Amino acid sequence: MDQITALESLATELQEGLNQASSFDDLETLRIAYLGRKGRLAAIMLTLPSLSSEERPLVGQKANQVKERCNALFEKKREELVSLREQSALARFDASLPGRTPGLGSLHPDTLVIEEICAIFEKLGFSIAQGPEVEIDHYNFEALNIPPDHPARDMQDTLYIKDTILLRTHTSPVQVRTMERTKPPLAVVVPGKVYRRDSDITHTPMFHQIEGLMVGDGITMAHLRGILTAFVRGVFGAKTRVRFRQSFFPFTEPSAEVDISCFLCGGKGEVNGEPCRVCKSTGWVEILGCGMVDPAVFASVNYPDTVSGFAFGLGVERIAMLKYGIGDLRLFFENDVRFLGQF
Ligand code: PHE
Repeated sequence: MDQITALESLATELQEGLNQASSFDDLETLRIAYLGRKGRLAAIMLTLPSLSSEERPLVGQKANQVKERCNALFEKKREELVSLREQSALARFDASLPGRTPGLGSLHPDTLVIEEICAIFEKLGFSIAQGPEVEIDHYNFEALNIPPDHPARDMQDTLYIKDTILLRTHTSPVQVRTMERTKPPLAVVVPGKVYRRDSDITHTPMFHQIEGLMVGDGITMAHLRGILTAFVRGVFGAKTRVRFRQSFFPFTEPSAEVDISCFLCGGKGEVNGEPCRVCKSTGWVEILGCGMVDPAVFASVNYPDTVSGFAFGLGVERIAMLKYGIGDLRLFFENDVRFLGQF
């Protein structure tokens, strides 16, 4: 019988075809050619009705065997292709490649300096206070003994929101707010943002200050000097010396500006024979303003005239620039992660 011979060679030929196949597409093409609806097995089956009733079951039986055999061959080849694919994926996987590290954020130099300075004052017994950035004239100027015709009140210097509502120009209004709600003795430091109508290489419209205030019985300028010395030695090193220069602020009397001995040249004014770039050869660097709280300020919060106290205010960016050797103030506010990641 031709059908039996044809069926017998079907599986052998399929095996040869499968040996050549190298992809799942090849496999599918072969399946359609051999076992598909119009494939070679189907073609043989179509001839069954023309056979005699003795031949028909023999051929039918043979056809079933061949079909199973073909299915088994396909399955074997499919498994081979699957395992080949896995092996090549493994070969491409390089376990020695370094992983991708996610970028870690870092604290802004302003934040670092604020945290460091506040920590020093907390050890000295100060607590942290805060106040609003949108402030009223009363706290920003009036209660601080800043007269109505003072140039700081000018539209040129202060960012006004309405007639008497403004963006605070310093952290000093928080002195007044703190005293209003606290009886003496007290000691606070106040970190925060302040705003001025100023924009050039050394001024930005927003910057940070830390205010200090200590009030009690018998507080003197000697306490101020002692506290500030401890503070600058904490930030700039134990050998740092402090110098007071007479100055003026409406809310302190007497007032002073404080210089520290230059931390780069140690006060000598030169480094390896070259003029010191930090102190410009003077040996001193200005770092803050301070003074004894003016009695007029105590009066504005109804403190008894028996108390005394000192206050100081410093610029955070200035300290950060000195401490980290940053040459340009604008870098603080450009948010370039290459700059911010260095501290
Ligand atoms: N508020 C002052 C300023 O912004 C600094 C200062 C604070 C001076 C406290 C004396 C006492 O310049």
